[in-house]
Amino acid sequence: MQLVTEDNITGLAAERWGTARDPRTAELLTALVRHLHDFAREVRLTEAEWMAAIQWLTRTGQISDDKREEFILASDVLGLSMLVVQMNHQLDPQATPATVLGPFHIEGSPELGYGEDMSDGVPGTPLFVHGTVRDLAGNPVPGAVLDVWQADAEGAYESQVPDIDEARLRAKYTTREDGSYCLRTIAPKGYSIPMDGPVGELISRTAISHFRPAHVHFLLNVPGYEPLITHLFQEGAQYLDSDVVFGTKQELVVPFEQREAGPGPDGRTMAEPWLEARYDFVLQPVGRR
Ligand code: BEZ
Ligand code: FE
Repeated sequence: MQLVTEDNITGLAAERWGTARDPRTAELLTALVRHLHDFAREVRLTEAEWMAAIQWLTRTGQISDDKREEFILASDVLGLSMLVVQMNHQLDPQATPATVLGPFHIEGSPELGYGEDMSDGVPGTPLFVHGTVRDLAGNPVPGAVLDVWQADAEGAYESQVPDIDEARLRAKYTTREDGSYCLRTIAPKGYSIPMDGPVGELISRTAISHFRPAHVHFLLNVPGYEPLITHLFQEGAQYLDSDVVFGTKQELVVPFEQREAGPGPDGRTMAEPWLEARYDFVLQPVGRR
């Protein structure tokens, strides 16, 4: 029988997990074992702390469902999600940078036309976001679908508002022949990540700000180009420097300029003052590094 000691347990466990039939799985699991053991050694993990961590993980699983992804939230606030984005989307500096997906994207958003309103009566200041989708050489990308979603003027997403079954503040817009797009919505507000679960429990023991700056999410999955998951942030918004999920990037911060009632960017007349944000998305062709 093998004699297990504090010194040899890591090698024994890594060797065991290295037998995974898929080589990548073997690599991932042996490295995980080594890093977990090193962590426990470095902090001299006590049994009470080990049990508290297990219970925290259990609560994180128990609170998760098809509308709530507490493990993803944990990854987000620990900076792991953004690290994975950074490592996997090393794009040309001219391309629009990627940032975190977040837990509020929903498949199957309604398709709207140029300048159509995705806020559909949700109260708030009208906001137009418009510009073009282009490639790195500056050529327009027609037929690109922009999947857009955001929080409301109180900072709440659809899934956080009780009794809402239909799509709210989300839509898909398609670029025209010249690569132009125009979406109408309302100005989003910055918001707190969900603080009523295990992630919130941990954050409230720290000095970490639990807010995200005001933003609109975009997902562009265009054949022939690297998929792009990103946000546009409102210039001057609160929390730009302390985004709890590390998702903010200077290149994605755009002014929301005040406009008076009158013609909007889609040619229709606005009866009330509105905000205008312009942004040209730049996609990187697949395979280019
Ligand atoms: C979001 O922007 O929707 C989001 C991202 C990460 C954690 C929570 C929310
Ligand atoms: Fe968001």
